Amino acid sequence: MNYQLILDDIHSHVVSIKDKGTIASYIPELAHVDINNFGLHLRTKDGNEYGVGDYTTPFSIQSISKVLALALAASKKGNHILERLDVEPSGHPFNQLALLEIENGIPRNPFINSGAIVIADIIVSAFDNPKESFLKYVRDLTGDNTINYNESIATSEKASGFRNYAAANLLKSFGNLNNPVEDVLDYYFTQCSLEMTCAQITKSFHLFANKGKCLFEKTYLKEQQVKRINAVMLTCGFYDEAGEFAFEVGLPGKSGVGGGIVALLPNNYVITVWSPGLNEKGNSKLGMLALEQFTTKTQLSIF
Ligand code: DON
Repeated sequence: MNYQLILDDIHSHVVSIKDKGTIASYIPELAHVDINNFGLHLRTKDGNEYGVGDYTTPFSIQSISKVLALALAASKKGNHILERLDVEPSGHPFNQLALLEIENGIPRNPFINSGAIVIADIIVSAFDNPKESFLKYVRDLTGDNTINYNESIATSEKASGFRNYAAANLLKSFGNLNNPVEDVLDYYFTQCSLEMTCAQITKSFHLFANKGKCLFEKTYLKEQQVKRINAVMLTCGFYDEAGEFAFEVGLPGKSGVGGGIVALLPNNYVITVWSPGLNEKGNSKLGMLALEQFTTKTQLSIF
């Protein structure tokens, strides 16, 4: 299969589309990004890499970080995580609060914001310096020490993160947050502010396509944990658009409001796309289209 030709074809088709969606502005710092950026990067399990467009430009990974945080928490706490959150799709936007109230402070899954805040609480409890430990984890997975947080994005989200404060306070009121709200959110906003390129994200997700072993064949997760995290990506990775993503693309994956989407075929490949314009569900509009074209052209999806 000529992967480079396929990526080039997708790129030329997708960048010609006029309606590129809308850049997220509820985190004011995110709104400065040029909507015309588009990057696509593929890495096969055997190590061949293909890229097109802006795949070496760093962008704000936002909710994509939730998968890496879940992996780090799972490697520390194992199945105990499941005592504090569920693994069901919510069918609602990532920042919705009503279900959390109705369901007594147990988030539906680790990828909606309330669930990711519980995972952040677990990481804050598990490490003396959680921000440093999470950054080291991502750098180790990729072998790339240039990866870093963007403090101005973290500060911008902190100043405007009213719904996350509401979620964390609700969790605290139900006894599902062990650390102070301020400490957990300070860590969470920084985690989400991580900047990576498509190529770096692809590399960091290699363990999910390789039974828990990273690029350098070091084991980070058990096979059962990888199976489970991939299942949660498939069912919950796109919030109230998880069904649509499975229907159109057919891969486990995760989106972020920075416009990135990473998706993978176990034992086969990882692919990352970045296009900052979002659809009305908060997922990259052209990113979803590019991945639909990729699995259609290659006939390589889980289905
Ligand atoms: O907590 C938030 O709202 C952001 N830091 C992350 C949200 C996000 O990326 C949702 N994904 N599509």
